[in-house]
Amino acid sequence: QPEAAVPKVLRSLSKHFCGTLSPSLPGPPSLPLLGNMFDLAQEHLPIHLTSLALRYGNIYRLNYGNTTMVILNNSEIIRETLVKKWSDFAGRPHSYTGDIVSSGGRSISLGDFSEEWKAHRRLAHSALHRCTTDSLHPVIENQAHHLCKVLRDYNGKAVDLSKDFTVAASNVITTLTFGKSYDKSSVEPQKLQDCLNEIVSLWGSPWISALDSFPLLRKLPNPPFTRLMKELARRDELIGKLIEELKKSDHREGGTVTSSLLQSFKPPQGGDQMTLTDTHVHMTTVDLLIGGTETTSALLNWTVAFLLHRPEVQNKVYEELCGVLDVRYPKYSDRHRLPYLCALINEMLRLRPVAPLAVPHRAIRNSSIAGHFIPKNTIIIPNLYGAHHDPKVWDDPYSFKPERFLEGGGGSLRALIPFGGGARLCLGEAVAKMELFLFTAYLLRDFQFLPARNEEPLPDLQGVASVVLKVKPYTVIANPREQ
Ligand code: HEM
Repeated sequence: QPEAAVPKVLRSLSKHFCGTLSPSLPGPPSLPLLGNMFDLAQEHLPIHLTSLALRYGNIYRLNYGNTTMVILNNSEIIRETLVKKWSDFAGRPHSYTGDIVSSGGRSISLGDFSEEWKAHRRLAHSALHRCTTDSLHPVIENQAHHLCKVLRDYNGKAVDLSKDFTVAASNVITTLTFGKSYDKSSVEPQKLQDCLNEIVSLWGSPWISALDSFPLLRKLPNPPFTRLMKELARRDELIGKLIEELKKSDHREGGTVTSSLLQSFKPPQGGDQMTLTDTHVHMTTVDLLIGGTETTSALLNWTVAFLLHRPEVQNKVYEELCGVLDVRYPKYSDRHRLPYLCALINEMLRLRPVAPLAVPHRAIRNSSIAGHFIPKNTIIIPNLYGAHHDPKVWDDPYSFKPERFLEGGGGSLRALIPFGGGARLCLGEAVAKMELFLFTAYLLRDFQFLPARNEEPLPDLQGVASVVLKVKPYTVIANPREQ
């Protein structure tokens, strides 16, 4: 009995400090003040949370400092929370550092649910939709051709492709937001990308999250926090410069998401009008660059890693592509005729959901999940990784089996939720789906991916989990196919 291992006095203290949820909600024993800090500090948190679900069930609680979290580990429960009861759970947690990173909550991803946030997300959604309707396909095609050229130029050398995937995904977003694309040697975008990655990684570090739960620590020197502040200043300077350049050019002509936002965010006229400002435009570009780069590129890198383990799967995709398209490159509209390729992409999104714990939600009023009372302000963590490995839904959930998504294969598209759902559904879902389809199809049409050297181990498939779930670095040979 795990509860019995904790002395009685600590258990009663922990109840005192950890607030009141439904008494029926299970969870591992929680230490006074520290709560379940040791569970939350596990190296691969999604795997750890999934293993706790085996003991405590599909919904359980954890505590950290004075914060109570509820972890959801099954797609039905996640849907009930994010989709059916979206208006109860569309909030984001308030935090000291989150407020700093999001310029006072004015980003879409970290901003709390409010009239201002709804207007911001609606405008960003329509700007993205307007700009992607006609131009997204050619933008991705262009980047996919460029990526294949870069791989061909490696001439069969064993290389780590992660940076090339990041450049390709990042170029799709910078073309959509600023009408610009770059190559691997360009300094400016690399600076911006490095800076954004550094911010995400610093913000996720325990030295910085401790400031949210233990306010007294804010008075002490904290070098990672000082670095975070420096990187944020650099981010704002780099993005500010790009927006100024766009304003100086005739941005109405550009057809980019940012120019569309600059036109729709009118300065406030009256006293109590909603004020969507330049900061909102600025933070939208940050949202799109952070949300849209490392996610897509991490999934492409996972796909190649799995295919090195299972060469027969890449051959099957190649044969399907040749059979259906002959020698031409695929279009997104071909997806219905390429079921095995789509099954491969779905299986990758299932096995390695690159945002494995989504982004934390907050209950904005008292509500319930799966019959348990959930008080206002409870933090909700949708464990998408856990939902995608639920043995009640997926046969042999830890195996890589694209066939499960073919007709009669037993895979459930309804239980596949890599983009979350409801009011906070990933803003870039449509962009990501087209990118994953076209990039994967181009890569597997043009190359056979081979292990670096016979004696080198195949890529480790467990990965490293931070905000984004990434495969550990590995090298691969991209061998051009004869067309
Ligand atoms: C949020 C997944 C690509 C922009 C999210 C969330 C997930 C997710 C799980 C959190 C949903 C929640 O809070 O419940 C993914 C995956 C991707 C991907 C798996 C690719 C494989 C993209 C792209 C963009 C993007 C390409 C931009 C073009 C965003 C934004 C949010 C978000 C702005 C915040 C939405 C909000 O809080 O309202 N994404 N994403 N994502 N994503 Fe994505």
